[in-house]
Amino acid sequence: MGRVVAVLNQKGGVGKTTVTLGLASAAAEAGHRVLVVDIDPQGSSTWVLGHDPALVEVSTAEVMGRVPAARAMVPSAWGGEVWVIPASHRLLSRDHQGSPTRLRDALAEVSGQFHAVLIDCPPSLGGLSTSALTAADHAVIVVEPSALGLRGIGAVADLVDDVWDAHNPGLELTGVIVNKVPTISGEADRRYDELVRIVGKRAIWQPVIPQRVIVNQAIGERRPLHAYGARSRDVSEVFDRLWAKLRRVTRENPGP
Ligand SMILES: Nc1ncnc2c1ncn2[C@@H]1O[C@H](COP(=O)(O)OP(=O)(O)OP(=O)(O)O)[C@@H](O)[C@H]1O
Ligand SMILES: [Mg+2]
Repeated sequence: MGRVVAVLNQKGGVGKTTVTLGLASAAAEAGHRVLVVDIDPQGSSTWVLGHDPALVEVSTAEVMGRVPAARAMVPSAWGGEVWVIPASHRLLSRDHQGSPTRLRDALAEVSGQFHAVLIDCPPSLGGLSTSALTAADHAVIVVEPSALGLRGIGAVADLVDDVWDAHNPGLELTGVIVNKVPTISGEADRRYDELVRIVGKRAIWQPVIPQRVIVNQAIGERRPLHAYGARSRDVSEVFDRLWAKLRRVTRENPGP
């Protein structure tokens, strides 16, 4: 019921994976169960969650074939609250072929076991992102407050519109999460204002995510942000609030 969320942007390196995993970390901290669905052939979230994409036998690629999600999902190394359907390089062939509704049908069978299902998308707007949006109740776009970071948001919004039209009338463009916000930067402030003009103030989720070395470190050490205690507290609390927001929107009436 309205709990599948696609985390996307065609632009690489903006923090789709970081946001997906930060939300998963906050969920686990709150005692909530999440399923991370990695549909990026790079397999970043799979790797951070403790699985090697090169060794995965049943991955999201097979789930986009006809394998049930229940056969592909595995517990993560972060503890029992966070599960993952891992990626593999076999996803590359899924970007161009296959029915966009398979992932939706597969996830529908397991989503009831979780408070949220987070789909970590690749940096492209091809078949994989289309599958994610077809399966999703909510699209969340991650952006960076830089000139290049804002380019292409229109194309992402257009894809959301196209998928809504063609495959998924239940899909909502639920929000924009701003990541990598420097502490002091006139340039970032100007870009933030520009973002407000493009998407509107209400679309932007608060709080924004600051740029912090600890975020990068947690990813590199494959640990949840919340494991760092006081060292990560300010960013962990940002993710706690974003998770609370996500919980609110996924519990709202999902529509007809
Ligand atoms: N708030 C942040 N503070 C510091 N570093 C960050 C922050 N967010 C992301 N990073 C770093 O930026 C890099 C890119 O982040 P990430 O992999 O999450 O982006 P992505 O959008 O998933 O990339 P891709 O498009 O390749 O999938 C990583 O090294 C990550 O650790
Ligand atoms: Mg990523």
